[in-house]
Amino acid sequence: MNDSIDAAVEKFAQLARQQAQRAENLKQEQDFTDFSSKEKIVIGICGGDGIGPVITAAAQRILMRLLAGESASGAVEFRVIEGLTIENRAAAHAAIPPDVLDEIKRCDVILKGPTTTPQAGDNWPNIESANVAMRKALDLFANMRPVKVPSEGIDWTFFRENTEGAYAVGSMGVNVSDDLAIDFVVTTTEGTRRIAKLAYEYARTNGKKRVSIVTKANVIKTTDGKFLKICREIAGDYPEITTDEWYIDILTAKLIDQKRRKDFSVFVLPNLYGDIITDEAAEFQGGVGTAGSANIGKKYAMFEAIHGSAPRMVSEGRAQFADPCSMLRASVMLLNHIGKVQQAAVLERALDICMFEEKKIAVTGRPDGCTCDEFADYVLETAEKIVKV
Ligand code: IPM
Ligand code: MG
Repeated sequence: MNDSIDAAVEKFAQLARQQAQRAENLKQEQDFTDFSSKEKIVIGICGGDGIGPVITAAAQRILMRLLAGESASGAVEFRVIEGLTIENRAAAHAAIPPDVLDEIKRCDVILKGPTTTPQAGDNWPNIESANVAMRKALDLFANMRPVKVPSEGIDWTFFRENTEGAYAVGSMGVNVSDDLAIDFVVTTTEGTRRIAKLAYEYARTNGKKRVSIVTKANVIKTTDGKFLKICREIAGDYPEITTDEWYIDILTAKLIDQKRRKDFSVFVLPNLYGDIITDEAAEFQGGVGTAGSANIGKKYAMFEAIHGSAPRMVSEGRAQFADPCSMLRASVMLLNHIGKVQQAAVLERALDICMFEEKKIAVTGRPDGCTCDEFADYVLETAEKIVKV
């Protein structure tokens, strides 16, 4: 017993040392990449697993059309990166094989399809999720997830902290004994400051009047308590914005309260709560298949669906009926991030028309709906009409 406790203490000491070093490194951070001064922007495309290649190809096709001029002039380059598949990752026994990571790091931004995350009991080796690994490897600290349902007055933007919390050392917990397992949650000062600043800057720049800080600081007192305290400090720099504080449990309830939920606008929250609540939020908009996300760091950024690779759709032969909207919403954010704001606005408007207004065809995930490619064609035709007007 004492030996296993000593081993656990030693493991904790190692984790604490690594995280202390990481917290120190965060203080030396550079500024955000300035895309307007770059001669060429390289967009890496990773198809992923399951329905990933289908929906990513649809988004790539639309992006290439919207950026045809920039591609022709050499200002933008699309680079397809093979190798982020579960088969390759399993063979390399790595969340991201090192050669694939090198290729990714030679791009500025990545459009990434969902990747299969091995879990205990399936046939894959127990490697870390490729999403989580990429977020850490590229220091993509902010996960921005917008959700809107215009007919119900819902217009939310979630800023999920993306490299810390329960995910920081999520695959490094300790089985102290057969009877005792312990995981760790990590909050750093700079890690919290930077996500809070991004959320408040976003609110200020986009005329949003309210930011809600979401934690469970009444129970998870140390790490969530710190997150809350630092967000409050940052809030002080934005006096024109109303800040309120919520615990994740009651917030989850309030998002289904039709009278109250319209009032929410921007949220800032730790990693795991952000993961869970954004799936709930996406459900109001039409399901996780309709929601995209931007994983933003100072140097790199990666854009993806909020959902997984849907292996069941593939095994049931339904992959071609997958919804491309998650990847198309992610593409809107990609375009905005690299400064192509006009193309972003066109694609966003086209998606709003196709998803919420005109709704000529709809994806259901089954043969009673249209295919992924048919919906992508519909979005593209709609976008081209907007450009001509
Ligand atoms: C997400 C996903 C991932 C996460 C999984 C696939 C590891 O659920 O992007 O929300 O938990 O972050
Ligand atoms: Mg999730």
